[in-house]
Amino acid sequence: MKKVFIVGAGQMGLDIGQVMAKTGYQVVFNDMSEEILATQVGKLEKSLDKMVSKGKMTEEKKAEIMGNVSTSATLDAAADADLVIEAIVENVQVKKDLFAKLDALCKPETILATNTSSISITEIASATKRQDKVIGMHFFNPATVMKLVEVINGLNTSKETFDTVYELSKEIGKDPVEVKEGPGFVVNRILIPMINEAAIVLEEGLASAEDIDKSMKLGCNHPMGPLALGDLIGLDTCLHIMDTFYAETCDSKYRASRLMRQMVRGGKLGRKTGEGFFKY
Ligand code: CAA
Ligand code: NAD
Repeated sequence: MKKVFIVGAGQMGLDIGQVMAKTGYQVVFNDMSEEILATQVGKLEKSLDKMVSKGKMTEEKKAEIMGNVSTSATLDAAADADLVIEAIVENVQVKKDLFAKLDALCKPETILATNTSSISITEIASATKRQDKVIGMHFFNPATVMKLVEVINGLNTSKETFDTVYELSKEIGKDPVEVKEGPGFVVNRILIPMINEAAIVLEEGLASAEDIDKSMKLGCNHPMGPLALGDLIGLDTCLHIMDTFYAETCDSKYRASRLMRQMVRGGKLGRKTGEGFFKY
């Protein structure tokens, strides 16, 4: 495996690409426009510059990583990719449309992986004629730092595909776990309802956003409070995940916070828009 095509160069796709390029893979980033790609690759270079200035990376390594990275605003460059990692918006229909296009374009042996936070791998795979080669490769934010990758089998994912992605996760310095398919898999099934509950606690006026986060940091030793974590993930993504849980289970315990829904409608998505529960 040499060439990795990453669809969606947002906060996750960009970091995943950085990890892959650092290991020596040729990475092609794809997004909606050349402008977005230029901005995002600029961000990648800045973050590598920061590491160089901190003495955590050599100029040579930075040059090697940047040399492994290229961009394409069309999907054509996926044609000779060995692996595709999808990290676009958390919307089942948009992901299925993309997988159908990738299936038609890519070599028959190419593995199509999704970084989805909550959507059924089997559902995404059903848009392709290679369900055995579709798999969940779920990274955690920030993907340059967090060690975990959940490797998720859909109903028809082959053992060969699973083994390849599991071994690849180890090769790029991550510590993978095998997870069966279910809404939100393991981590998000537990984590996102907690963030949602924190939004409901805020909605009910039990404490300020600052004090809710302080409580969970000092009371539970969490590295970040749940509201700041929601802002880091993106409230649009958190809401999509809650709505997927509800749609898949019809269980009212997964009712999304009204406040969170209102904030998403109003464009307060967290760090990526400069404001969420907190201002950035
Ligand atoms: N991007 C890249 N690197 C980052 C970063 C970011 N956004 N934020 C911090 N870092 C790096 C720092 O540069 C620093 O690196 P060095 O040690 O090499 O200098 C390191 O991470 C530690 O950072 P800090 O000392 O500034 O801050 P910290 O110790 O508080 O750590 C944190 C920051 C790692 C983000 C930590 O607060 C944390 O672990 N938070 C929880 C993150 C979490 O739960 N992520 C999972 C979200 S859920 C998910 O991703 C799944 C999903 O589908 C939604
Ligand atoms: P983001 O909004 O930062 O980035 C998404 C990127 O995809 C944007 O640059 C957007 O322009 C691009 N995009 C959207 N539709 C596209 C299309 N059809 N073709 C090409 N590019 C397209 O989102 P993100 O936070 O990076 O999340 C991406 C995926 O990763 C989602 O499925 C999300 O659930 C998952 N995820 C997110 C986190 C997190 O903490 N944010 C963690 C793990 C997994």
